[in-house]
Amino acid sequence: MTRVAVLKGGRSLERQVSLKSGARVQDALERLGHDVIGIDVGHDLVERLRATAPEVAFVALHGRDGEDGTVQELLEALAIPYTGSGVSSCIRCADKVIAKHHMRDAGIPTPDFFAFNETAFKELGAADALPAIEERLDFPIVVKPASQGSALGIKFAAAAKDVPGALVAAFSYGDKVLLERHVRGRELAVSLLDGEVLPIVEALPREEDFYDFESRYEIGRTEFVCPAELPDEITARAQELATAVWDVLGCSGFARVDLMLCEQTGELTVLEANPIPGMTETSLLPMAADAAGIGFDALIGRIVLLAHL
Ligand SMILES: Nc1ncnc2c1ncn2[C@@H]1O[C@H](COP(=O)(O)OP(=O)(O)O)[C@@H](O)[C@H]1O
Ligand SMILES: [Mg+2]
Repeated sequence: MTRVAVLKGGRSLERQVSLKSGARVQDALERLGHDVIGIDVGHDLVERLRATAPEVAFVALHGRDGEDGTVQELLEALAIPYTGSGVSSCIRCADKVIAKHHMRDAGIPTPDFFAFNETAFKELGAADALPAIEERLDFPIVVKPASQGSALGIKFAAAAKDVPGALVAAFSYGDKVLLERHVRGRELAVSLLDGEVLPIVEALPREEDFYDFESRYEIGRTEFVCPAELPDEITARAQELATAVWDVLGCSGFARVDLMLCEQTGELTVLEANPIPGMTETSLLPMAADAAGIGFDALIGRIVLLAHL
């Protein structure tokens, strides 16, 4: 029996998702016979960690603070072993621009992009460069905040007139945004547990034109196929790319890599890596683990065993 603190909730926009992930994780840990303490992360986090002195912290947070290395840094400071990736890896994964630069430098295909801080528009006239960017990326252009998850703040600009509005929307989520080449095709996710790939999940949103917030968390809005029905060589390539991303970004414990399979070229490109993927009823990593014969409780048990400092 281990004394495990489940860190959940927090102040990020994905608070509700995290509360769901956290509740499921807590239930699983209790079934496994651990001594479980649930902590809704807020101002008293350090105080509560000191008071409860857990042997392990299970970080079930998504988005700001929880997934970007902040909470991990605090756990390091308090010398409490924690689940998932370390500080530097979280920093690399949580910022899509940093992650994409690492991938591009390592030769891992990721859609072309240009990224700017708000100051580039306010002080350097970046808006005047938009026509050149639009020509390079072609329409539709995907505009997204660098540090968000669950598809929040993502817009597809169909024409030049849509770009400024999409930028304003993305900047409302953070001070760095990227304009990215749109990939039309199939949406794949490769989950990894301790660096080993799990079966691929394909997400097929039923109505929405992409895998948005609603299609992620409302049961029945998306059809999931796992293992994804793909030619063997595409499966192998997707798993090889996901492993390369795991290595380049320095992940540990578990992670999920999101990819697109381009309908036109048949090429795979990596959109991002999630250091703390969702653990909800509709989440992809638990689905992938299940397809590999690893039930939810066993998955959570493994993740706790992989906790580190
Ligand atoms: N370049 C792109 N081309 C096509 N669809 C995209 C692209 N980027 C994002 N999307 C859509 O938006 C969703 C979320 O994008 P992603 O980069 O994975 O961010 P996050 O999941 O962190 O919000 C994807 O699952 C996909 O449906
Ligand atoms: Mg994603």
